[in-house]
Amino acid sequence: MELSWVEISRSALVHNLKAFRGLVGDDVVLAPAVKANAYGHGLVDCAEIMEKNGADYLCVNALFEAQKLRKAGVRLPILIIGYTPLSDLKEVIDLKDVEIVVYNIETVKNLKKFEKKVSIHLKIETGNHRQGVELDQIPEFIRLIKSASNIELKGVSTHFSNLEDRINHQYALYQLKQFEKAIHLLEKDGLAPHYRHCANTAATILLPEARFNFVRTGIGNYGLWPSDKTMKASDRANIKIELKPVMTWKTKVAQIKEIKKGSLVGYGCTYEMPQDGKIAVLPIGYYDGFVRLLSNKGFVLIRGHRCPVIGRVCMNMIMADVTHATDIKLEDEVVLLGKQGKDEITAEEMGELSQTINYEVTTRINERIPRLVQ
Ligand SMILES: Cc1ncc(COP(=O)(O)O)c(C=O)c1O
Repeated sequence: MELSWVEISRSALVHNLKAFRGLVGDDVVLAPAVKANAYGHGLVDCAEIMEKNGADYLCVNALFEAQKLRKAGVRLPILIIGYTPLSDLKEVIDLKDVEIVVYNIETVKNLKKFEKKVSIHLKIETGNHRQGVELDQIPEFIRLIKSASNIELKGVSTHFSNLEDRINHQYALYQLKQFEKAIHLLEKDGLAPHYRHCANTAATILLPEARFNFVRTGIGNYGLWPSDKTMKASDRANIKIELKPVMTWKTKVAQIKEIKKGSLVGYGCTYEMPQDGKIAVLPIGYYDGFVRLLSNKGFVLIRGHRCPVIGRVCMNMIMADVTHATDIKLEDEVVLLGKQGKDEITAEEMGELSQTINYEVTTRINERIPRLVQ
C-alpha cells in the first residue's frame, strides 16, 4: 500500500484536449507538452490518453522522455524542445518520428555527418533570451541546412516571455513580429518550413494570430490556467474555454493524538498548541514534493474538514491540527491537492502559500509516487 498517490482523471484530461481542439479547429496541429512527467501527471499514461483522443504531436524536453514514450508504444511524432547534446544526436535519429528543436550551428554541422534523414525545427530568438537563433544568424543556418541533403527544416518556432504575466500584450506582439520576420527570411531563401509554432497555453487561448498551424499547449491540458491574468483576459475577450483540473493528490492518516495546550509541534518547536486539541500525523513530506515552505501555512482536507498544517514540514511527515474534526479515524483518506466534498485545495492556492506557481506545484510531486488513472 502506498503512503501517497496521485489520481489522474482521464475524463478531465480528454475534456481539456477536446476543449483546445474546439478552440483551434481541425487544421492546427495540437502538440501537447508532456515534458516534466506531463507536468507531474505521469508521462506515459497522459501521452497514451492524448494519442487516443486527438493529439497530433507530443512535445518533450529531452531524449529520455522520447525513448520512454517509444518504449511504451506511443507512436505520435515527438518534438524534443529542450537541449539535445551533440553526443545524443545519433540516438535521436535512430528513433522513429522524433524531431528536435535546433538553435546551435554545431548541432546542424553534426547532423549533417549522418546519412539518415532528420527533421528539425529552428528556434528563433525573439526576445525571451532563452534558446534561439538571432535573426542575423539565420542566413548561416539556411546555408548549412541547404547544403545537407539529410536535414529537413520541418518547423520554425519561438517562445513567449510574459504573455501570462501581463494584461497588456505589447511585448508578446513585438515577439510575434520578430518571429514573422524570421519566417520571411526563411521563405525568401526558399526554405519555408511547414510548421510554424510559438503558442503555449496562454497564447493559444488569447492570441489566435499566434496559433499558426501548430500549438504547444502545456499547463492547460492538465486543467490549470497559466495565471489569473490569463483567465481574466480570456473572460474579458469572451473566449469560451473550460479547463478541468486533472490531478488529485492523496495520502492517509498515520496517527491521531490528543495533545495539551502549550505542546510544541515538530522540528524547531515552531508551533505551540493554543488549546488542548488533537493532531493527525500524515506520511508525506518534502521528499514527496510537499515543500517545506508550507510549514505552518498549508492545509489538508480530511472528511471534508480543512485542517491547517502545523509545525515544520519534515522529510517524510507532516502534522495537521484536527481538533475541530471529531470524526477523524486512523487511515482516513486525506486530500493534499484537489477536491474533497465541497472544499478544494487548488494548485494555485498551494502555489501561493509556497511562493511559487501552479506549474511547479504539480511538477514537483515526486515521480516515484504512483499516478493512478481513473
Ligand atoms: C518551449 C515551450 N513550449 C510550450 C510550453 C508550454 O507552456 P504552457 O505550459 O504555458 O502552455 C513550454 C513550457 O514551459 C515551453 O517551454
